[in-house]
Amino acid sequence: MIGRIALSLLPVLTSVRAAQAPPSASYVDAQNGITFQGITEPTYGVTYGAVFPPLSSSGDQPTEFIAEIVAPISKPWVGIVLGGSMLDNLILVAWPNGNSVVSSARYAPKYALPSMYSGPVITNLPSTGVNATHWNWVFRCQNCTSWTQGGLDVTSSTGQWAWALGGKAPTTPSDPASSFARHADFGFWVQNLANAHASSDAYNAYLSGTVPISSSSSTPTSTSVATTTVASTTSPASTVTASATAYDYIIVGAGPGGIVAADRISEAGKKVLLLERGGPSTGETGGAYTAPWASGTNLTKFDVPGLFESMFSDPDPFYWCTDITVFAGCLLGGGTSINGALYWLPSDSDFSAANGWPASWQNHTAYTNALSTRLPSTDAPSTDGQRYLEQSFDVVKQLLDPQGYSQITINDEPEKKDLVYGYSAYDFIGGKRGGPVATYFQTAKVRPNFTYKDYTLVSSVVRNGSTITGVQTNNTSLGPNGIIPLTPNGRVILAAGSYGTARILFQSGIGPSDMLSLVNSNAAVAETMPPQALWINLPVGLNISDNPSINLVFTHPSIDAYENWADVWTSPRAADAAQYLKDQSGVFASASPRMNFWRSYNGSDGITRSMQGTVRPGAASINTTNTYNASNIFTITAYLSRGITSRGRLGVTASLNALPLVDPWFADPVDKEVLLIALKDIVSDITSVANLTLITPDNHMTIDEYVDAYDPANMDSNHWVGSAKIGTDPSSAVVDSNAKVFNTDNLFISDASIIPALPVGNPHGMIMSVAEQAAAKILALAGGA
Ligand SMILES: Cc1cc2nc3c(=O)[nH]c(=O)nc-3n(C[C@H](O)[C@H](O)[C@H](O)COP(=O)(O)OP(=O)(O)OC[C@H]3O[C@@H](n4cnc5c(N)ncnc54)[C@H](O)[C@@H]3O)c2cc1C
Ligand SMILES: *[C@@H]1O[C@H](CO)[C@@H](O)[C@H](O)[C@H]1NC(C)=O
Ligand SMILES: *[C@@H]1O[C@H](CO)[C@@H](O)[C@H](O)[C@H]1NC(C)=O
Ligand SMILES: *[C@@H]1O[C@H](CO)[C@@H](O)[C@H](O)[C@H]1NC(C)=O
Ligand SMILES: *[C@@H]1O[C@H](CO)[C@@H](O)[C@H](O)[C@H]1NC(C)=O
Ligand SMILES: *[C@@H]1O[C@H](CO)[C@@H](O)[C@H](O)[C@H]1NC(C)=O
Ligand SMILES: *[C@@H]1O[C@H](CO)[C@@H](O)[C@H](O)[C@H]1NC(C)=O
Ligand SMILES: *[C@@H]1O[C@H](CO)[C@@H](O)[C@H](O)[C@H]1NC(C)=O
Ligand SMILES: *[C@@H]1O[C@H](CO)[C@@H](O)[C@H](O)[C@H]1NC(C)=O
Ligand SMILES: *[C@@H]1O[C@H](CO)[C@@H](O)[C@H](O)[C@H]1NC(C)=O
Ligand SMILES: *[C@@H]1O[C@H](CO)[C@@H](O)[C@H](O)[C@H]1NC(C)=O
Ligand SMILES: *[C@@H]1O[C@H](CO)[C@@H](O)[C@H](O)[C@H]1NC(C)=O
Ligand SMILES: *[C@@H]1O[C@H](CO)[C@@H](O)[C@H](O)[C@H]1NC(C)=O
Repeated sequence: MIGRIALSLLPVLTSVRAAQAPPSASYVDAQNGITFQGITEPTYGVTYGAVFPPLSSSGDQPTEFIAEIVAPISKPWVGIVLGGSMLDNLILVAWPNGNSVVSSARYAPKYALPSMYSGPVITNLPSTGVNATHWNWVFRCQNCTSWTQGGLDVTSSTGQWAWALGGKAPTTPSDPASSFARHADFGFWVQNLANAHASSDAYNAYLSGTVPISSSSSTPTSTSVATTTVASTTSPASTVTASATAYDYIIVGAGPGGIVAADRISEAGKKVLLLERGGPSTGETGGAYTAPWASGTNLTKFDVPGLFESMFSDPDPFYWCTDITVFAGCLLGGGTSINGALYWLPSDSDFSAANGWPASWQNHTAYTNALSTRLPSTDAPSTDGQRYLEQSFDVVKQLLDPQGYSQITINDEPEKKDLVYGYSAYDFIGGKRGGPVATYFQTAKVRPNFTYKDYTLVSSVVRNGSTITGVQTNNTSLGPNGIIPLTPNGRVILAAGSYGTARILFQSGIGPSDMLSLVNSNAAVAETMPPQALWINLPVGLNISDNPSINLVFTHPSIDAYENWADVWTSPRAADAAQYLKDQSGVFASASPRMNFWRSYNGSDGITRSMQGTVRPGAASINTTNTYNASNIFTITAYLSRGITSRGRLGVTASLNALPLVDPWFADPVDKEVLLIALKDIVSDITSVANLTLITPDNHMTIDEYVDAYDPANMDSNHWVGSAKIGTDPSSAVVDSNAKVFNTDNLFISDASIIPALPVGNPHGMIMSVAEQAAAKILALAGGA
């Protein structure tokens, strides 16, 4: 991926919509008699509550409240965020220290340790303390409803709040300013503010500690509300039988892997249901999220290629999955609705035995041809055929030509991936985002035997031993307890992405035993998970990979950095916006990259690895003390791709947030060694290009020092593969050569997770070729409906 912000990890996330988070309820804390509005989060048993003074009918509204965190003694630190995002919201954090509770107000303008924040006046109330089983932080928070970049509207009926907790004690527990490691888990709830106001008398009594403590306390009734990714299946009301339609094929997830499979399988005459947890994306699919300058058109954020960089700076980024800590798209199209759309037809080596493919997959030609026929690529996406903003191409061409590179039309010669460069190729169509949504999805959706349901979250497959009988959804209107059944001999195909598919497998009792035990400790998951005797032990989440990528930032006087893409959403260059609205031509008809190049290297371990370069105007982050002209910046991102040997592991937390457990980047030092050589080669003849200046790293730092200091999280390319990899042996693979999950009869996977090793370029082209081939093999396999 390529992004305007450097960080690819979303720790406490971006924002969350009401429907996805449990609501608060009123409860009385028996320790202090205070009636709070809040939740007891079921996974960790931590209670979060708050109560406000009454609203004023005239004049100023209250700027304070009383709040509490009641945590089991085992919780090393816990925080409340007074908003739906870690960034730019007041954070109240506490931890036990011996018999006392240490607390502070914090604030985070970026994804890093929140710093101490002054302004709020925090006074602990008497029921704060530590006993044998719990620590309680009960406090008055004055001047706590507004802060640097926002505030809490006490007059609104609800607010999005978040919680986070740590896995390790802070560095210096006695010090309120102590640093602490990144949270181990997090979640959201909807705080009912309308019902969170006490009378003045009650509020004053709470402050003075004179409230009589009644013997009948309560905990918030939302305790029984499962976390966002778990279906609620047990409430009596929901057992009312909903009529359920059975399907031959239920496909989970409408990203590239799921859409291609759904189209091909419905084309073959099967009755297909495609389920997607998110909503519409492009205008054609009913999406309506447009930039102010495009309002009144169907040209949504997801249609306009030139808005790609604004994905990373949106005030309401509802399209990211809030329960995956790396970027993932949760809307129709999955990653292909929010990505840079760099589109490469895979090459033979991408499907080679050396890349981990079984023999029966290595001749991908027919499937890749089927893909390129349905979804052609273009390296001139503007509808007028002109290329725009090409200065960075021209500069980097001067850098590469003396190194023996030559220019090609990249997708005309997919096998040529050594010492070549060309214009960036995309799957845009008619100056708009195209991809699988504009092609495969369109042919599927008009078939009478194809059904699409969005806003439907699948938590697990329902199985009787090795036979899958349906899927568990979160919508009880779709079937009894939300279960949608298969027809006899029907099949389920998971296509929820590398993280989403793994999470569904875990909740279905399929995966390594440590992960299965962890999710089974979540009471809501345990309700629907098969008994331990039926767990299927497979290496789900092991051996994942992602391209390590490193940015080099330059200036050259010829470059137009396009204001670093910062204004494209709110105040674009007027002529460019008008041109695009008129006929989808101009700068806005392309995402930010302008050139791609590849070179092959032999590592000291004898393994050949490829490096991909991606060139674009603008930069994610700059580190230099030298003066430079910000309107002349551009970036070369160097990715190590095919041949990388580093692997990591992904998994979930107990509250079902999915995340990398072991980072893959540079796990093998030879990967680092090769990428370093490649970076040095790129700049080896920089002095031959007049006025070209490397500004990050600058002349105070060597490339080696720069790479040594590079934050691993910033090497994330969002190209995750391998979490359910294909192979011939269940000890090292999750699906067999028919893409069927080992030791099941009728569960298949068609997405990035089965790909055993990264291709030479950005992966979504290959993912669709893989889905074409998976669909063909699944249809050809005897025994299906
Ligand atoms: C910021 C960014 C930029 C990128 N840029 C590029 C690029 O320029 N070129 C390129 O080739 N690749 C790029 N990628 C990578 C590419 O988009 C992904 O590799 C690709 O989308 C993965 O496809 P997939 O089908 O495996 O899964 P996804 O695209 O993740 O699709 C999974 C779908 O399943 C849905 N889902 C998940 N869980 C559930 C559930 N439990 N129930 C129901 N539905 C569910 C999701 O909402 C989603 O729609 C980028 C990725 C990101 C994040
Ligand atoms: C209230 O807090 C803000 C910071 O959020 C601070 O600037 C302001 O001075 C504080 N006001 C008082 C009265 O302390
Ligand atoms: C310890 O604190 C918890 C949380 O307030 C409370 O539920 C529990 O009863 C307390 N235990 C004792 C022995 O007081
Ligand atoms: C499914 O749709 C295809 C294409 O429209 C059609 O050929 C086929 O007969 C249909 N199958 C069923 C079972 O309806
Ligand atoms: C937007 O698309 C919808 C459905 O495709 C269509 O009915 C509508 O007329 C379009 N609106 C505009 C402004 O183009
Ligand atoms: C690969 O398959 C195509 C047809 O799909 C065929 O024409 C070609 O000969 C095959 N190549 C090899 C090496 O088997
Ligand atoms: C589960 O499968 C067994 C045979 O494998 C069968 O006897 C049993 O009836 C099935 N149970 C259900 C609930 O379908
Ligand atoms: C199911 O989950 C999706 C995604 O989180 C959500 O949009 C939808 O509203 C949920 N459905 C129900 C019935 O709760
Ligand atoms: C649940 O499914 C029904 C039937 O498809 C649909 O009408 C309803 O909108 C869905 N609920 C949510 C919250 O998505
Ligand atoms: C890498 O090694 C292979 C064979 O070992 C050789 O053919 C190739 O030319 C080498 N490539 C480079 C870039 O050195
Ligand atoms: C390089 O910069 C110098 C001085 O700023 C200028 O005279 C010269 O034209 C520039 N050369 C190029 C190729 O941009
Ligand atoms: C920025 O560069 C300086 C040296 O020029 C270096 O000491 C520092 O670590 C760099 N910071 C980052 C975040 O890379
Ligand atoms: C993961 O990869 C390593 C080598 O990179 C290998 O030793 C190990 O067996 C693999 N594990 C699985 C489950 O494939």
